Amino acid sequence: MINKSVINIGILGLGVVGQGVCKHFENNFIKLNKRLGVKLNITHVAARDIKKTRAISLDNYIVTDNPESIVINPEIDIICELVGGTSFAKDLTLKALKSGKIVVTANKALICEHGEELFAVAKESGSHYLFEASVAGGIPIIKVLRESLVANQFKLIYGVLNGTCNYILTQMQRKQESYDVIVNDARKLGYVESDESLDLDGWDTAHKAVILAYLAHGKWISLKDIAVEGIRNVSLKDIQWADDLGYKIKLLAQISRDFEKNTLYVSVHPTLIEKNNILANVDDVFNGVCLNGDIVGDSTHIGRGAGQDPTASAVISDICDAVNLIINKSNQLNNIPDNVDTGTNLNIASPGDITGCYYLRLNVNDKPGVLAETAHILAEFNISIASVIQCPVLNDQSANLILTTHPTNEKCIQNTVGKLTDSEWVLNPPFLLHIANFNN
Ligand code: HSE
Repeated sequence: MINKSVINIGILGLGVVGQGVCKHFENNFIKLNKRLGVKLNITHVAARDIKKTRAISLDNYIVTDNPESIVINPEIDIICELVGGTSFAKDLTLKALKSGKIVVTANKALICEHGEELFAVAKESGSHYLFEASVAGGIPIIKVLRESLVANQFKLIYGVLNGTCNYILTQMQRKQESYDVIVNDARKLGYVESDESLDLDGWDTAHKAVILAYLAHGKWISLKDIAVEGIRNVSLKDIQWADDLGYKIKLLAQISRDFEKNTLYVSVHPTLIEKNNILANVDDVFNGVCLNGDIVGDSTHIGRGAGQDPTASAVISDICDAVNLIINKSNQLNNIPDNVDTGTNLNIASPGDITGCYYLRLNVNDKPGVLAETAHILAEFNISIASVIQCPVLNDQSANLILTTHPTNEKCIQNTVGKLTDSEWVLNPPFLLHIANFNN
């Protein structure tokens, strides 16, 4: 225990989240100081444009456009890196950790790409890198995995981890509007990241899945070892057909561990989820994460996954943990998995090991024998058809065929799609969706 009665915080980045942290910290700081037994101050803030008009007053802070000056300031104990990106933010984080400061972050892309190095540096320096805000915004899922459910092994973790995609899919269904119309609404509401691909192509979800996989299994998975697919090709028609079949479509991250084969599989796909599943009813910008632990069983967590307030709530929670780490001088948080080395011999599962059911949309020539030929190709790869919907396309000589399959594996379905793509009667590239089976 060290006798420190004042703890100073520097905020790097005054975007939406940085301003939210300042606002909610100021509104609650008397209560927080009482609970923590110290005088906790945000003293310094760094912003790219310090003259910009903002929704919060900066009068109480020393404001700079040089974040490094805050990082090297010996008076500052805790750094909140809310700059974003993976290069400048990495330099600032490394410098802060090496000087023994605790760094709090919401930067999932940085952790995903450089987490191994950053956590190693934190450990060497006797510091800490806290990241509750990096996954699922206001849901305290990092704490759940790291602390509350630490005794468990997780066969399956799955979740809706991107609020923007969830908003788009929800609104397409609710308003019966096309992807293009709803994505424009989402842009106007400021939901879509400036690099749109992060949200729409599934990368943001993948970053979060990598972090959860690491916490649960102690292995840093490279993005190249993850099957990542976004929502751009999901049409309103798919949402309607899925609805007819009893499903909703969600962008789903899955982290599956096979303890017998000692393999791990991480994927991000738009996925059909049975309407009565709790996750199918996590709508709009909400996130949901389900953990299947060997001791606890199923544990489901739902909350606001993005935006100023939930993210600020998570950052402030980490600031409070950082204060406890400083004043108690103990490693009060459970070690992160690197320290227990759980993932050393874990391999990535191969596609032949990944079983599941699928939804396949084909636009085909509407002529005799096409349905039979299509079924023949599926049979060739030992895939059994579970259901068929055929809809003629108006003013066209084509039809849409919607097939669902019984369980098969990823390798067989990909081979099937390849062969169908090359078939002369298939007019457009086949569109494949996964159907969730959480009981595997
Ligand atoms: N773009 C992210 C989302 C922000 O929509 O979920 C929160 O990580």
